[in-house]
Amino acid sequence: MELSEIDQINLSAADLKSIAVLTGAGISAESGIPTFRGKEGLWKQFRPEELATPQAFFHDPKLVWDWYFYRRNLIAQAEPNAGHFALVELEKMLRESFTLITQNVDGLHRQAGSSNPIELHGNIFVNRCHECASHFSDDEIDFSEMPPLCPACRGPVRPGVVWFGENLNPIHLEDAFAKSHQATLFLSIGTSTVVHPAASLPEIARRGDAKIIEINPDSTPISHAADYTIRDSSANALPPLIEKIRSIFAVD
Ligand SMILES: NC(=O)c1ccc[n+]([C@@H]2O[C@H](COP(=O)([O-])OP(=O)(O)OC[C@H]3O[C@@H](n4cnc5c(N)ncnc54)[C@H](O)[C@@H]3O)[C@@H](O)[C@H]2O)c1
Ligand SMILES: [Zn+2]
Repeated sequence: MELSEIDQINLSAADLKSIAVLTGAGISAESGIPTFRGKEGLWKQFRPEELATPQAFFHDPKLVWDWYFYRRNLIAQAEPNAGHFALVELEKMLRESFTLITQNVDGLHRQAGSSNPIELHGNIFVNRCHECASHFSDDEIDFSEMPPLCPACRGPVRPGVVWFGENLNPIHLEDAFAKSHQATLFLSIGTSTVVHPAASLPEIARRGDAKIIEINPDSTPISHAADYTIRDSSANALPPLIEKIRSIFAVD
């Protein structure tokens, strides 16, 4: 009998000392949220540079807000899938030795029960003032005005996500770098690893001597550096992988 990709993964209890996980849009694909670069990618219909930049927002705030309303609506109807839930199980097992870093803005990790994901690119449901950085709930904002204006300082209100050309929150980024460097095992899941700086996290983990497992139906720029690749969807691959980790953990 042929061994599955998961059967072939060889881990010891020492590899499980500290686990960092990076997720991208692929983990939410099976929840019905399109990825940006997949076949159904949102960006086949809309060019990202027309929408996900500060320049686009100032040029045409209505177009950008409409796109975000469309995405919010899709995400609001979505439920976490077996991949998100498997990572909740992994956190319960590892506790403080577990770090979840996500590029997703959909909040599905929290919804599944992950306690403290590092949301590198923010959250799509946040309304943030571009000037004073205050956050507001939907009912505090008058969306009939475009751009909507901040109730505190009259600055333009925008989605609370990180756009192309913008810096990530330095505290989040430092935390993600440190946890990736400390990791003994690093899982890269459903990310094309082309958007930096998130895409450099597997490399940082590698230099820190972590084993790398990639879960992605397609190959990516980091595939060659991975110790193991699982060419399957995350909802299929994660539950058995986490059970395998549990069996190694239990023996320790
Ligand atoms: N759900 C979301 O929050 C969401 C959705 C679209 C884009 N984004 C944003 O897109 C940016 C792009 O980076 P990215 O790497 O996250 O996404 P990406 O769209 O660049 O890549 C998605 C990756 O997921 C893989 N994939 C597709 N289906 C999969 C599945 N079922 N299981 C596992 N892998 C699967 C694809 O092969 C691809 O490599 C990020 O900044 C992120 O904020 C977020
Ligand atoms: Zn303001």
